[in-house]
Amino acid sequence: MARKKIVAGNWKMNMTPAQAKDLIETLKPLCGANTDKDVVFCVPFIDIPLAVEAVKGTNIKIGAQNLYFEEKGAYTGEIAPAMIKEAGCDYVIIGHSERRAYFGETNEIVNKKVLKAYEHDLVPIICVGETLEQREQGITEELVRLQTKIALKDVDAAKAEKAVIAYEPIWAIGTGKTATNEQAQEVCGWIRNVLAQVYGQETADKIRVQYGGSVNAGNAADLFAMPDIDGGLVGGASLKADFAAIVNA
Ligand code: 13P
Repeated sequence: MARKKIVAGNWKMNMTPAQAKDLIETLKPLCGANTDKDVVFCVPFIDIPLAVEAVKGTNIKIGAQNLYFEEKGAYTGEIAPAMIKEAGCDYVIIGHSERRAYFGETNEIVNKKVLKAYEHDLVPIICVGETLEQREQGITEELVRLQTKIALKDVDAAKAEKAVIAYEPIWAIGTGKTATNEQAQEVCGWIRNVLAQVYGQETADKIRVQYGGSVNAGNAADLFAMPDIDGGLVGGASLKADFAAIVNA
């Protein structure tokens, strides 16, 4: 079954509202009409309303970079899933390695957030990946299998098939050091394999698995051509016109 590729920009903590508007105006004519891939801008919370407005009439969808796993209440500084949904988000990144490393997100927290995303009809982009130390120790496969399985605990097949899993080796993030096509394919293949174990091959074949980590206009086409890589999650290069070249790769 042919999976539609999905290219998402993770803006991280970049772009004030004014800058966001400018960037979207730059990118819109370059990749807003692309219909052979799903295109998503995952923007800071404060930029969501203007981004949703700015991409109207294009193929671009807007995502958040996080949510909290409670509905509402006394959680100062957090954002409720209903808030980002009502603001117009279709996607939400969950469990990015930066959130795991700097904000203490565990696999269990990631799972709670994934369940919440589904409750609010948001597509989770679930991030998994190993550090350089873990790769060198030879535990990448076990680690990524575990991260994937725990993230999707209690998610049924009908929901899981909508998920996006982003394999992001931490050593490749923001370093300019991309995984080779073969390294990226190998891990994305392991991810598909664990999905098949949990949900069966038919469902596993529907789930999109992205690669992320120093994706740029020069390496995107070759990465996305690998059999188990269904697009990319792009950090640095999503903040410039280059992103359109990645989308159109
Ligand atoms: P870079 O593309 O800047 O390496 O970031 C990747 C990433 O973390 C996307 O979520």
